[in-house]
Amino acid sequence: MSQESSGKRVKTPESLRSARWFAPDDLRSFGHRSRAMQMGYGPEDWVGKPVIGIVNTWSDINPCHSHFKHRVEDVKRGVLQAGGFPIELPALSLAEQYVKPTTMLYRNLLAMDVEELLRCHPIDGVVLMGGCDKTTPALLMGATSAGLPSIYVPAGPMLRGNWHGKVLGSGSDAWKYWDDRRAGLINQKDWIEIEGGIARSHGTCMTMGTASTMTAIAEALGMTLPGASSIPAPDSNHLRMSAESGRRIVDMVWEDLTPNKIQTHAAFENAIAVAMAMGCSTNAIIHVIAQAKRAGCDIGLEDFDRFSRFVPVIANVRPSGDQYLMEDFFYAGGLPGLMTRIKQHLHLDTLTVTGKTLGENIEGAAVYNDDVIRPIDNPIYAEGALAVLKGNLAPDGCVIKPSACPPHLHRHTGPALVFDDYPSMKAVIDRDDLDVTADHVLILRNAGPQGGPGMPEWGMLPMPKKLLKQGVRDMLRMSDSRMSGTSYGACVLHISPESFVGGPLALVKTGDMISVDVPARTINLDISEEEFARRKAAWKAPEPKYERGYGWMFSKHIQQANEGCDFDFLRTDFGKAVPEPDIY
Ligand code: FES
Repeated sequence: MSQESSGKRVKTPESLRSARWFAPDDLRSFGHRSRAMQMGYGPEDWVGKPVIGIVNTWSDINPCHSHFKHRVEDVKRGVLQAGGFPIELPALSLAEQYVKPTTMLYRNLLAMDVEELLRCHPIDGVVLMGGCDKTTPALLMGATSAGLPSIYVPAGPMLRGNWHGKVLGSGSDAWKYWDDRRAGLINQKDWIEIEGGIARSHGTCMTMGTASTMTAIAEALGMTLPGASSIPAPDSNHLRMSAESGRRIVDMVWEDLTPNKIQTHAAFENAIAVAMAMGCSTNAIIHVIAQAKRAGCDIGLEDFDRFSRFVPVIANVRPSGDQYLMEDFFYAGGLPGLMTRIKQHLHLDTLTVTGKTLGENIEGAAVYNDDVIRPIDNPIYAEGALAVLKGNLAPDGCVIKPSACPPHLHRHTGPALVFDDYPSMKAVIDRDDLDVTADHVLILRNAGPQGGPGMPEWGMLPMPKKLLKQGVRDMLRMSDSRMSGTSYGACVLHISPESFVGGPLALVKTGDMISVDVPARTINLDISEEEFARRKAAWKAPEPKYERGYGWMFSKHIQQANEGCDFDFLRTDFGKAVPEPDIY
């Protein structure tokens, strides 16, 4: 049965949530009205009009969202045009490049920020403005838990980078030229020019990193207007999409089109199919699992592995692709174009923010460049972007991105070279006397959700300088951390359970043989069960990282990577639903 929205008004002005604040003839509502008037508003602003919260993750230190300071005015324009009352609500900004130790430590804090902002204010519907990596899942997780009609406005990718006529891609080219510099192939002058050319405009990373992956997922879920996620940030289409989102959310309030009607199990399967076809960031797994669990949908690692076996990578965008960036992807037809190519793997009857189905939204969409968005029979990579491995080294699973690592490392056995933490690895990795060969398996532990803490993006361990000088550019690397979506290489990530809580990674010793077989989806440590048990019995838990504050709460309640790294107390099945405020 089609889940198409009736598009009918089911809400009346009296049944609006905000009417509880503004309508009653009592002292409390007097206070709400008089204070709104203090800001220059009058009854004509709020009587009978939905109040639209605009959660804006702009900040002076978030270059990916710098345009949101002004773009919010386009959203407000749309809200006003459609007869709503726009209210901007600033939220935690989470700039990927600046927040230390990692934005992942704060994804759930932003999700809580959003949920509580919406719950405690007189808001009827919300426009969510985000895009830089963790902001997309965080905003959607918070809005999903709040349960109000919600629409997502992605920040949009920045323009292509440029240096000496060469196209530069966020992250990917930084890693590449950094390795060249360490190998003595790039001088200081070139390096500074690359610094100035790699990020030419506001907007999110324009490779297929976590930002582009997660905004595409938001669109595939049905939480953005069609095509919204591909529009480059400086493009005038982005201003018009922002205004249109403002207009649309007003109608969504009247239609009572809440996230639970859009974010169904089928919608999450669409998100996974799209993620695979895009050659997505490995971070997508953690975020989508967390988002799905907030929506009450049972999505796990096995769903990603299942889709990865039959959905090919068709977006020829770096780092899985060899040439193009998100700007090219937009000109080639963007996400609606890509979705027409994988229609057979999508549930076309899922409902979206437009009130129409996904199938209706992509009707008439086209691809304008077959090299950027490949036909399904001429993919970049025949299988999906991600593979989930399990074995005695990762009983609860781990992840590798086969499309971004050389085929000869898809099956590999080699001796472990173990680093107990990031500083100890960094201290020796460039030493000429490091006992390492291209056959070694580099292992970094204590870099997971609790050990990092916050699972930093350390998973693309630097290649040892000694090997770089020999011309070796990739080797098998493993950790319980994550990897930037713009990174590449034979990196096994998210090993669960993590070493900090006693997962098997904690028991590996330098020289142990490790085997990875991507086609067979296995990862194993080659020691006897008796030796395994002996090491386990001798293992001592490390000291806790935090003894107070947010970090303490994080350590107590963070779940493992295979569960999406949400806080346990934010699960939908954790206790009774949060009541609406009953004192207005
Ligand atoms: Fe913001 Fe990459 S740093 S999207």
